[in-house]
Amino acid sequence: MADKILVLVNGARGKMGKESVRAVREAEDMELVAETDVEDVLADAIRDSGAQVVVDFTTPHCAFQNALTIVETGVGGVIGTTGFTPDQIDELEIKCAGKHPGLLIAPNFAIGAVLMMHCARIIARHMPDVEIIELHHPAKLDAPSGTAIKTAELIAQSQARTIVPRGTSEPAARGDRFHGIPVHSVRLPGLLAHQSIIFGAEGQTLTVRHDSINRSCFMPGVLLGIREVLHRKGLIYGLESLLLTE
Ligand SMILES: NC(=O)c1ccc[n+]([C@@H]2O[C@H](COP(=O)([O-])OP(=O)(O)OC[C@H]3O[C@@H](n4cnc5c(N)ncnc54)[C@H](O)[C@@H]3O)[C@@H](O)[C@H]2O)c1
Repeated sequence: MADKILVLVNGARGKMGKESVRAVREAEDMELVAETDVEDVLADAIRDSGAQVVVDFTTPHCAFQNALTIVETGVGGVIGTTGFTPDQIDELEIKCAGKHPGLLIAPNFAIGAVLMMHCARIIARHMPDVEIIELHHPAKLDAPSGTAIKTAELIAQSQARTIVPRGTSEPAARGDRFHGIPVHSVRLPGLLAHQSIIFGAEGQTLTVRHDSINRSCFMPGVLLGIREVLHRKGLIYGLESLLLTE
C-alpha cells in the first residue's frame, strides 16, 4: 500500500477539529500525526510531527497567522477557518505563488453547498434579482458567513441586480449588501449551517437551499482537500476549484 498522508489537525479540541480528527483516523490513506490547539506552537508541532498536511479549524483571529506558518514551514494546508479578509487572501496568494504543496482555503467544505453556489451562478444569469438568507448556530463568530459572501461574489459576477427598496424606514431590515446583494444573517439555537438563495422574477421565485445537518457533512470535502493539496501548487481558494472544471 502507498505511504499514508501524514496529517496534523490544528484546533483539534474544537467542534470541527474533533470531527476532522475522527475523519482522518478513519481514512485508510491517512495517518493522524498530531493534534494541536491554542497552547501549542504550530511551527514546532509541524516540524516535530513530520506532518505533510495541516488541517486548520481554529478562529478568525489566528487563522491568517496559522496560514503563514503553514506556508513558511513548507507543508500543505487545508484551512476551513472562516473570516479571512480579501487583503489577507491576496497576501497569501503572493506568498504561496508557485509553492508546492498547495494551500487550500475553503469557506465551505460541504460538497452540497459548493454545488448550491454553482447552481446559483447559473440561475443568476437568467434571474438576476436575488437575496441571500444564511442561518447558523449562535456561537458562530462571523456574520455574514464566508459562504454567503462567496455566494454573493459569484452571483455578482453574472448580472445580479439590486432592488432598491421603497418605503423602508429601517434600511438594516433589508439586510447588509455584499457585492451589491442583500444578505440576511440569522443566529439561533437549533441551527447548524443553512443557506437559502431566493431568486425572484415576474410571477415566479426559485429558491436554492442547502442544509448542513451535522458536521460530518464537511468531512468528504476536507479529506478531498488533504489528498489534492499534495498534488497542487500555490493558493487554491474554494472547494469548487477542486470539484468543478467550468
Ligand atoms: N469551512 C467550513 O466548511 C467550515 C465549517 C464549519 C465551521 N467552519 C469554521 O471553522 C472554525 C472553527 O469552528 P468550530 O465550530 O470548530 O469552532 P470551535 O470554537 O469549536 O473550535 C475552535 C478551536 O480552535 C482552538 N484555537 C483557538 N485559537 C487557536 C490557536 N491560536 N491555535 C490553535 N488552536 C486554536 C480553540 O481552542 C478551539 O478548540 C470557525 O472559523 C468556523 O466558522 C468552517
